Amino acid sequence: MNRKKTKNPLFFLLTGGPTYDVPLGRKDGFNFATEQATIDNLVAPFANTTTVLASLEVKGLDATDAVALSGAHTIGISHCTSFTDRLYPNQDSTMDKTFANNLKRSCPTADSNNTVNMDIRSPNVFDNKYYVDLMNRQGLFTSDQDLYTDKRTRGIVRSFAVNQSLFYEKFVIGMIKMGQLNVLTGGEGEIRKRCDRRNKDKKVDIATVVEELEETFSALF
Ligand code: HEM
Repeated sequence: MNRKKTKNPLFFLLTGGPTYDVPLGRKDGFNFATEQATIDNLVAPFANTTTVLASLEVKGLDATDAVALSGAHTIGISHCTSFTDRLYPNQDSTMDKTFANNLKRSCPTADSNNTVNMDIRSPNVFDNKYYVDLMNRQGLFTSDQDLYTDKRTRGIVRSFAVNQSLFYEKFVIGMIKMGQLNVLTGGEGEIRKRCDRRNKDKKVDIATVVEELEETFSALF
């Protein structure tokens, strides 16, 4: 079996975190988003809470969703260039000084190609430590840290920092809401044989897709 196929599901299981039933019936698109469409729909890491809330509001997501979904930054890495505007030429005054000094060691210049963990407390565990980081002014991006500075979201950050189950509950709600955006049904899309490629043949046999998935999962467990 192709090793690459198992990498992502396995990593997800190892990080922990909540599970949820994905609503059924939606299809994969016939096309991929263009680079421009992707950029237009992404919030920049230097965005403040006002911008984050406004960008999510147009998609039907509220402040709780914004704080909960940003909690995905409890795992994973970031390139230096996504946050070095907070270090050079001037250090962001809302950033904890020791944290900033350590980041400067990892990213010695503003355009360094290095990467750092996004959650310094538990970078490989899907837990609520990201919110503890924010309360200690150790959030990596402005879009993260400002959630604790801004009065509209500060209480939500605190509530997740002290209650991991509440974070899990709201994260799942946010994920399900995101999954409802621009749903394609029926002939509007297809079931991809490989999630990163559109099907060559438009008439893919659903049984083949299911068999391949079963093979992947039986090799995992
Ligand atoms: C305010 C909205 C958000 C902003 C500004 C943002 C920004 C970013 C940036 C700049 C990176 C690092 C990219 C790099 O330098 O390599 C990143 C990584 C990541 N983001 Fe977000 N993000 C946001 C929302 C989300 C949401 C909603 C999720 C998922 C529910 C998410 C999950 C992740 C993950 C898992 C990574 C790590 C990827 C890796 O390890 O390769 N982010 N994000």
